[in-house]
Amino acid sequence: MITTWVDRLKVEGKRLKVKDVEIETNIPGEQECVQRIFKCTGHNFEPNIAKKLWPRILRHKWYLSEKLGRDVGIKVASVDFIENVEPMGEDLHDEERIRLLRDLGAYMVDQSVWDTISDTQPPKQIVNKRIILPFTATNLALKHGVVPPRTIIFFGPPGTGKTHFVKAIAGVLQWWYIEISPSTLLADGEDRMGANLKRLMEKVRNVDQSVVFIDEFEEIAASRDQASRVDKSITNEFLKQVPLLKKQDTKMLLICATNYIQQLDAALLRPGRFDCIIPVGGLDDQGRRTIFEYFLSSTNRGETDVEKIISMIPLFTPADIEYLFQKVRQYAFEKEYAKGEDYRVTTETFVEIIPKVRPTLTNEIIEEFERDCDRYTRY
Ligand SMILES: Nc1ncnc2c1ncn2[C@@H]1O[C@H](COP(=O)(O)OP(=O)(O)OP(=O)(O)O)[C@@H](O)[C@H]1O
Ligand SMILES: [Mg+2]
Repeated sequence: MITTWVDRLKVEGKRLKVKDVEIETNIPGEQECVQRIFKCTGHNFEPNIAKKLWPRILRHKWYLSEKLGRDVGIKVASVDFIENVEPMGEDLHDEERIRLLRDLGAYMVDQSVWDTISDTQPPKQIVNKRIILPFTATNLALKHGVVPPRTIIFFGPPGTGKTHFVKAIAGVLQWWYIEISPSTLLADGEDRMGANLKRLMEKVRNVDQSVVFIDEFEEIAASRDQASRVDKSITNEFLKQVPLLKKQDTKMLLICATNYIQQLDAALLRPGRFDCIIPVGGLDDQGRRTIFEYFLSSTNRGETDVEKIISMIPLFTPADIEYLFQKVRQYAFEKEYAKGEDYRVTTETFVEIIPKVRPTLTNEIIEEFERDCDRYTRY
């Protein structure tokens, strides 16, 4: 009696219509595939079927590892694939889709990234209420006519955590994180930038549950008054892509980040194109404390007066705090290497190193950022 998919494959093997897919170049021969699958699952397949299954198992391994946030190993992936994946399913395991995700460099971000951001750190509350909840509390959003945003700009000084926020959003929603960098668009030369953007956006539109991130957005969407001819064409292309993206039924967020909000084309900043324009600025005490403790927890530490240290770094961004720890750890490493005895990082270590780290933020940068906040913020 045929009870499982495995039995069906064995018996009806020749009739199985595994989709014709372009397989990886290093796929071994039929007999080798039979042996590999047998070793992993204990099931014997017809050689021609095994040859078609093996690349699918490899893709499934990648998919499962991304979903679970760890390398699941080929045995687990093989057994899971054989037991749980419908051969003809049009779901997430579909080859086309997996190939697309890999092509786009999509990956899953751990949910814990969200918790590394203090609840008091702006714009966590705004992001939670305006972006995450409308997607997770869908019925309530529907009841009150709240439409989740699709297109978002984060702006703020360097190192303030814009990219980190985007990853945290992808993590908390458990959606695919896809990053498009202006340098990828430039890969085939400046005059192909617009065409590359179009091609990428067409692909991206087919990925359900994804957070698509464009960093250094001013490179793509600089004001057409100031930009060169090439820049103009890419800005125009982007302007065409936004409504197409918003029309799409898929669950998807396009988030763009920039340090230079004033440089963006006015047409893009008008309501209708971007649903939210959100500032990501300096940290408050609690925000600095959370990040400080996050890095401290993985440092060889002794007595540390966190409050004292926090009060010494008022203008530090997350990137500055990360750099401070890099220097402190290097210092500890060198000390222990020289003396040969356990060196623990203490308050004194920080007091010595802090003056050597120049904070990114200055009063002028903060004033300018505040002016930008007044002028551009919208959510
Ligand atoms: N809440 C946080 N907890 C731990 N690390 C953080 C946090 N926020 C940011 N970081 C780290 O600080 C560094 C700078 O953050 P990020 O790259 O997100 O800044 P950015 O605003 O995108 O900078 P840029 O404008 O230069 O692109 C990163 O290495 C990031 O991982
Ligand atoms: Mg960034």
